[in-house]
Amino acid sequence: MDHSLVPNRFDGKTAIVTGAGSGIGRATAVRLLREGARVIATDVDAARLDALSAESATDMLATVAGDITSQGTVDDVVGRADGRVDALANVAGIMDGFLPTAEIDDATWERVLAVNLTALMRTTRSVLPLMLGVGSGSIVNVSSEAGLRGSAAGTSYTTSKHAVNGFTKSTAFFYTPSGIRCNAVAPGGVATNIEAPFRSQSAAERLGPFLQVNVPPIATPEHLAAAITWLLSDDSANVSGVVLASDGGWVTI
Ligand SMILES: NC(=O)c1ccc[n+]([C@@H]2O[C@H](COP(=O)([O-])OP(=O)(O)OC[C@H]3O[C@@H](n4cnc5c(N)ncnc54)[C@H](O)[C@@H]3O)[C@@H](O)[C@H]2O)c1
Repeated sequence: MDHSLVPNRFDGKTAIVTGAGSGIGRATAVRLLREGARVIATDVDAARLDALSAESATDMLATVAGDITSQGTVDDVVGRADGRVDALANVAGIMDGFLPTAEIDDATWERVLAVNLTALMRTTRSVLPLMLGVGSGSIVNVSSEAGLRGSAAGTSYTTSKHAVNGFTKSTAFFYTPSGIRCNAVAPGGVATNIEAPFRSQSAAERLGPFLQVNVPPIATPEHLAAAITWLLSDDSANVSGVVLASDGGWVTI
């Protein structure tokens, strides 16, 4: 295949995007639509999905409102694909109030792991049989700079994103021989609606100086959509199991 001749990388393809109501997920859904995909966009926030539908004004977009930590939502989303999923972008995620280990409450730990990690396993587990049926597919998980170091978030979030990297590599190991690629993108700071208030004074004091080394300009969701759609597309056909930083060079510091 001559990839340089692919004008519309997702023509005829079906993609699922989680967290598609806002930020990186929304930008990814918009870019996939622009490049020819049929997109199933899901988010817990129905109003945000309605806004995406209104703005996109295309029958190539289907939306499913629901909490992605529920297997029922995952089943609804995959059910809308009519038996074919070429691309899955696991983008939905939440922060953890920057809580350090000694200050973690069970609810925060469980919710962060449920949204950032377990839900992503469930969506991937549910689309894999469809991808295996046709011998192709590409999955992209959104990790974080906090998946690369210990100094970018609280312990729950950092743990969840390191686990996303392991999940990505293990999935790639098992399924790349069957034509299914799995990669992760690790964003640095991105201007989105993600809620990131410090809930710990000690964490603010300890983390503050390290977060300030993230000197590059804050990225846009579209910067991340570019990396995610590259990994979802055949342009990256020889790439599987990587964690691609898209962070303006933060990874070098
Ligand atoms: N913004 C950043 O600086 C940054 C940096 C590194 C990684 N990330 C990661 O990028 C991803 C996207 O975040 P964003 O910055 O675009 O945030 P965002 O808050 O703008 O968008 C995330 C979307 O996910 C949805 N969502 C949250 N929980 C959900 C659930 N349980 N079920 C379904 N949908 C749910 C939200 O409603 C929201 O619309 C996350 O995984 C986040 O951890 C963001």
